[in-house]
Amino acid sequence: MRSTDHSHIHRYHGSDDTEDRQTSANTVNTLHIRFRSDRYRRIGKQDGKDMTTAIIYASTNGNTKAVAEYIAGKTGGKAVDVKNADTLDLNDYDTVVIGGRVWAGSLPGALVKYIENNKNTIEGKNRALFLCCIYNGEKGQNQCDKIASELGFEKHDYFNKGKKIVLEPGNKVDDFISRL
Ligand SMILES: Cc1cc2nc3c(=O)[nH]c(=O)nc-3n(C[C@H](O)[C@H](O)[C@H](O)COP(=O)(O)O)c2cc1C
Repeated sequence: MRSTDHSHIHRYHGSDDTEDRQTSANTVNTLHIRFRSDRYRRIGKQDGKDMTTAIIYASTNGNTKAVAEYIAGKTGGKAVDVKNADTLDLNDYDTVVIGGRVWAGSLPGALVKYIENNKNTIEGKNRALFLCCIYNGEKGQNQCDKIASELGFEKHDYFNKGKKIVLEPGNKVDDFISRL
């Protein structure tokens, strides 16, 4: 396991039994996990899974913002425009979702910079990326795969017409949330 790889932390979700079995992990991680486990109980559950989710987004015309706020509503998490991301302490969250609108095949520079500046922290979290874009089908998937791979996000998806999609029951964003 790489020293920056804290993916094992996510095995602790909601299970005291699992948590106890992990006390052989190094002390720093164990203390950290206990603290966060306590926060999970206070903050909420989704599908029986305790989690706290931060969504940091960049949106020009509101689609990405609508999806970010929808994810926050469904997870009990917090959606923050990257412009105000300084108000957020990522250490308070166990899941970090990045959401960006795509222009000319790229995410907004401020969002890319945010990911770079917080690389080590984000890499230690359960993390996912979503895009709001106009490309669909194979073109949309390829665009999304390329951006996600460049930024190091294994979990990723894209949405067209973000403002509309969140009004539809059982939409693609719900599927994304279930994979967080
Ligand atoms: C100048 C411009 C460039 C765009 N370039 C792309 C693109 O390269 N790929 C794509 O899929 N969508 C592209 N789009 C569509 C936007 O990504 C899409 O409308 C998205 O929902 C905008 O999100 P927002 O409402 O959060 O700003 C572009 C839109 C504009 C206005």
